[in-house]
Amino acid sequence: MEFRFSDRIKDLTANAIREIFKLVAQPDIISFAGGLPANEGLPLKQVKEIADELLSSDKALKILQYGATEGYPPLLESGLEYIKRAGIYNQGFENIIAISGGQQGIDLMCKAFLNKGDCVLVEEPTYLAVLHILKTYEAVPIGVKSGDEGLDLADLEEKIKKHNPKMLYLVPTFSNPTGKTIEAGKRKAIAELCAKYKLVLLEDDPYCELRYDGERVPSIKSFDKEGYVLYNISFSKTISPGLRTALIVGHKDIIRKLTLGKQATDVHTSTLSQAIVDTYLRKGYMDPHLEKVIPLYKAKKDAMLAKIEEYFPSQIRYTKPEGGLFIWVELPSYINTKEIFIEAVQQKVAYVSGESFFPEGDVFNTLRLNFSNATLEQIDTGMKGLGDLLKNKIKE
Ligand SMILES: Cc1ncc(COP(=O)(O)O)c(C=O)c1O
Repeated sequence: MEFRFSDRIKDLTANAIREIFKLVAQPDIISFAGGLPANEGLPLKQVKEIADELLSSDKALKILQYGATEGYPPLLESGLEYIKRAGIYNQGFENIIAISGGQQGIDLMCKAFLNKGDCVLVEEPTYLAVLHILKTYEAVPIGVKSGDEGLDLADLEEKIKKHNPKMLYLVPTFSNPTGKTIEAGKRKAIAELCAKYKLVLLEDDPYCELRYDGERVPSIKSFDKEGYVLYNISFSKTISPGLRTALIVGHKDIIRKLTLGKQATDVHTSTLSQAIVDTYLRKGYMDPHLEKVIPLYKAKKDAMLAKIEEYFPSQIRYTKPEGGLFIWVELPSYINTKEIFIEAVQQKVAYVSGESFFPEGDVFNTLRLNFSNATLEQIDTGMKGLGDLLKNKIKE
């Protein structure tokens, strides 16, 4: 068959993670590949109770009807309260829209801002789905250097001047894929740079509540005096990814364009999901839930770090995140993690090889490990298998 697909989609390959999911679906594989919250951390009882309550209430028919593209008004109200945790105040209903997951926030921003060939700056490495989305808009991602001290501000400014980007995309808290966090001083400087160059920043912050050590850092948006920062906050990692509910907050003119873009995409986010998230927040379920899952994730993170020390060769470098779901490993430059992935799967363990997180896809000696979705026992067995493989490769 010959179909005349668009230029946007015809050369697009499946995102690496989706392919890996297929490979590691066998039950005997220990997967450190995904980015899923732990099943045992999903608040099933509360969501069930809330859904029952909502559908037995006088709001039921409203919830089952079409709603406004901007979102379910009670959630917009509780959302404006919720973002105060990130240091974001003085926002009104014209500054917020409910979206179908944080991923949709990235897509709608690209839809609103990007023409074919436009440049977008991303931290290097970055969330791989953003690279995938940029391809569908025929935009060009440019990596900004990021070392042990986080994002390199001099490189950021140089690339702003050189490439005249339309947008900057950052995951500043417990980044996917590295787990790194940009410190407060740099966040302020980033907000100031965006204002200086009139550059729009999409601050993607799905992991900020999953902090296991250290002190909370205010969002970049909290330093934004001019309105160039858009704040994307998802409930996927704190309540449930299946509810597909997130919020995006920022300048009213941008929110209006996102609303028009969303209207064309899916009319509005599921009102039932929005009402569940709203009630969850209003009943005060978030903090007790976080108090339950944080020790669970912290134990897994600490176990994975301890197993790296115990089983991995000494020639590697790795991040020690204070939160989030990922640890990032750098190997000697001659190791290709994409090539040895099949051998890892033969050892019954999976990871995501790092090249998919780089705009040029040209860095092959890194890998991402997820710790949230394996048991402590699986972490021990899987990390031993992976450590043995890496020791072998580094010896060879
Ligand atoms: C940085 C980042 N942004 C966005 C998402 C998408 O999350 P969702 O669409 O479920 O809110 C993820 C999920 O892994 C992520 O890591």
